[in-house]
Amino acid sequence: MKTSLTLAALVASVALGLAGTAVASEKLAQEKQCMGCHDIKKDGAAPSFKKIAAFWKGRQDAEASLMRTIQQGSVATGGPHWAKARMPDQAERPLVSEAEARLLARWVLTQ
Ligand code: HEC
Repeated sequence: MKTSLTLAALVASVALGLAGTAVASEKLAQEKQCMGCHDIKKDGAAPSFKKIAAFWKGRQDAEASLMRTIQQGSVATGGPHWAKARMPDQAERPLVSEAEARLLARWVLTQ
């Protein structure tokens, strides 16, 4: 009895921890103004994060490539080029550190 309670508490805290990371990443995306152009589900000025995730699913270079776009804008990367508009580099956006770019790339890939 005691063991299963402890186990339940452990499972709950692990689940909370994972959900916490996803929430933190979404908050980061808002802070970095990603959501001004992107939406998770809907295409607008920029492709939706769901569409991007579906394209990159299973590709080994996905994380590194998305990190580069997130830090340097879409002109710095080979593509795909989704829209007529380009994603600007950091001269026109809040700075994103390498660690933040990694978090954001992983989060985008799980949408
Ligand atoms: C000013 C508008 C704008 C902002 C702000 C912006 N993006 Fe983008 N983003 C775009 C556009 C437009 C594209 C499509 C570019 C293209 O087709 O070449 C894009 C493309 C992308 C891609 C796709 C890369 C690929 O190769 O498939 C990712 C990932 C991405 N953005 C993530 C982010 C994240 C994370 C942020 C916040 C740090 C962000 N974007 C902020 C406009 C924006």
